[in-house]
Amino acid sequence: MTTSTSSAAISVADGPAPSDPVPQTLLLLGASGDLAERLLLPGLGRLVATGAQPDLVLIGSGRDDWNDERWRRRVAESFATVGADGPRETEMVRATRYLPADVTREEDLRRLLAACHGQLVIFFALPPVITARSAAALARIGLPPGTRLMLEKPFGTDGASARSLNHVLAGLVPEDQVHRIDHFLGKSTVVNILGLRFANRIFEPVLNAAHVACVDIVFDEALGLEGRAGYYDGAGALVDMVQSHLLQVLALMAMDAPPTLDARDLRGRKAQVLRATRVWDGDPVRWSRRARYTAGEVNGRRLPAYADEPGIDPTGGTETLAEVVLAVDTWRWAGVPFRLRSGKALAGRRKEAVVTFRQPPRVPTGLTGYEQPDRLRIGFGPDRLGLDVNINGPGDPLELDQAHLVAEFGPGGLPPYGEVLRGAFDGDPTLSVRGDTAEECWRIVEPVLDAWRAGAVPLQEYPAGSRGPVDSLLAPAPGEEILH
Ligand code: BG6
Repeated sequence: MTTSTSSAAISVADGPAPSDPVPQTLLLLGASGDLAERLLLPGLGRLVATGAQPDLVLIGSGRDDWNDERWRRRVAESFATVGADGPRETEMVRATRYLPADVTREEDLRRLLAACHGQLVIFFALPPVITARSAAALARIGLPPGTRLMLEKPFGTDGASARSLNHVLAGLVPEDQVHRIDHFLGKSTVVNILGLRFANRIFEPVLNAAHVACVDIVFDEALGLEGRAGYYDGAGALVDMVQSHLLQVLALMAMDAPPTLDARDLRGRKAQVLRATRVWDGDPVRWSRRARYTAGEVNGRRLPAYADEPGIDPTGGTETLAEVVLAVDTWRWAGVPFRLRSGKALAGRRKEAVVTFRQPPRVPTGLTGYEQPDRLRIGFGPDRLGLDVNINGPGDPLELDQAHLVAEFGPGGLPPYGEVLRGAFDGDPTLSVRGDTAEECWRIVEPVLDAWRAGAVPLQEYPAGSRGPVDSLLAPAPGEEILH
């Protein structure tokens, strides 16, 4: 059976819009970089096209010695990739300016702040180390009251640097004005987890250790390095995907129902469940895997070995695939493994959170063909909800078959970066990561990073275009069918 739903069940995106819009400036640091071009500007273009930010001025700043004309071309091109070329977007392109600057220097920052008007939103589209230095310089010169800060992930490079960055930010603006970006929280399917779990009577009562055997959160990508050596080789799959995005998904899957979806309630519930999360058995050597791809072909596209990509340190041991099994030590989830995995250059492109239920206590004698337990699947691309259930197949009604019920989620109104930008413009931090949670996510993965650094977990290899290492901690059970 295939049905269609029209849109997300609960849309945090429909949150408060300012009734009387004030002029705002978005100061984009790292404006000439790849993140701005590929994700941020297209998200901004789509948001501006909705008419939601009528008095917004964009100022770009970067180390590249660009002029306004070069920058306007970049903005217009990025907007065009998402069809954002209407009158509002064209006006934004006409009015935007570019100011070259070293954003770690106080005098440069003073110059940038002097060019901004109205309510200020600063987006740090910068590597974490530069963000920290820039924030420290801003702390020395001060910010206009009400300034909101948006910081791209990863937040810090480890627990200690995240703590010290939080400390600097706390001296700059109140916590509710800090928007730590995790664009997965702007994905409508991820936000949909809330509606699915808390607006339906049928799922929530069975989402606990009494009924669930395990929860998998998997994000396998066909993409390889895609020219991002400078960033990726210092991060690797665990920091790039698991420490941030997948733990956010885990929090939404595992948390208790918040009374409201306002920032305090929702982020409080997420923080609570992440505080209870740790590596399974406290044994990162047994319960983690790391691997990187060798040369191969993905969807007809030839990829060189990761270690041979330009800009990579082949001796650095950066992984392109990470797996870790976590325990969520709460009354609800004690004893249920949460298996997280993300990898690049893979064949499967499996992107989903899967709840595997326990087997029924007893399948009556005479009912045959039971092979697989029920599963609830939340797909993050394609965006869909799936339910695998055992029903009678064709012919003999006592012979079971597994049926896959699928409902497509409606597309979100905005791309993820449009959604998170809207949160900052509206002063609503619901979809951003709270400071203590950012630190908690480092606390969860640090034992794994330490074990890997100590060489206690071998760096395996898998050919690009394969399904990853053979001894995966998430090896599908025999006969398990994966929906694509
Ligand atoms: C980014 C990671 O945050 O998320 C990338 O840095 C990854 O490595 C990407 O490819 C996945 O998100 P999306 O929304 O592009 O599927």
